[in-house]
Amino acid sequence: MLLRDVELRDVDAYVRIRCDPVMMAELGGPLPQAGIRERVRHDVAAALADTAWIRMIVPDPAVPAVVAGSVVLWTQESEDAPFSEIGWMVLPEFQRRGLGKQAVRQLLQEAHEEERWGEVHAFPSTTNVASNAICRTLGFRLLGEQDKPFAGRLLRANHWVVDTRDGLT
Ligand SMILES: CC(C)(COP(=O)(O)OP(=O)(O)OC[C@H]1O[C@@H](n2cnc3c(N)ncnc32)[C@H](O)[C@@H]1OP(=O)(O)O)[C@@H](O)C(=O)NCCC(=O)NCCS
Repeated sequence: MLLRDVELRDVDAYVRIRCDPVMMAELGGPLPQAGIRERVRHDVAAALADTAWIRMIVPDPAVPAVVAGSVVLWTQESEDAPFSEIGWMVLPEFQRRGLGKQAVRQLLQEAHEEERWGEVHAFPSTTNVASNAICRTLGFRLLGEQDKPFAGRLLRANHWVVDTRDGLT
C-alpha cells in the first residue's frame, strides 16, 4: 500500500466514494455528482499548495491508477480556533483488509515526523463500527458525542482526538 496525492484523474474514484449510497450511509447519504469534478480540481490545488494532505490509497504500488479510497488531513475552520481534522474512506471491494487503518496510521506518522498538525480530531458517526475501531486502536482518545455538520447535514458523531506530537501506539 502507498499513499499518493490526489490527481485530476481521480474524478471516477471521487464519484465512487462520495456519490454512492452504501459508501455514504454513515455520512448522511450520497452527494450529487454535479460539483465533483470541481471538488477534485479544488483538492488537487490544495494538495499542490500543501494546505491540506489529500492522499489516495493505492493498494498495489505497481498500479498507481487503481485507488482503494482516500485519507485526508486538513485544517478545519471553526467559530473558535481552527483545528486539524482527519477523515478516511475505503471502497467496498477493498474493505476489511486493514487498508483503512494502515492509511490512517501512515498519515498520522507523517504528521508526527513533520511536527505540523498537533492535535488531530476525527468525527466518525456513533454507529460507524469500523471507523470507531480505527480511532480506538490507533490511540485516539474519545472526548464524547456531538452533532457534527457534514456537507450541509448534521450527523451524530463521536469526537476523537490524537496528539501527533506524541508517538503512535
Ligand atoms: C470505515 C472504513 C474506512 C474502514 O476501512 P477498512 O479498510 O475496511 O478498515 P480496516 O480493514 O482497516 O479495519 C479497521 C478496523 O475496523 C474493523 N472493521 C472493519 N470493517 C468492519 C465492519 N464492517 N464491522 C465491524 N468491524 C469492522 C476491523 O476489524 C478493524 O478493527 P481492528 O483493528 O480492531 O481489527 C470503510 O469501511 C469505509 O470507507 N466505509 C464507508 C465510508 C465511511 O464510513 N467512511 C468513514 C467516515 S468517518
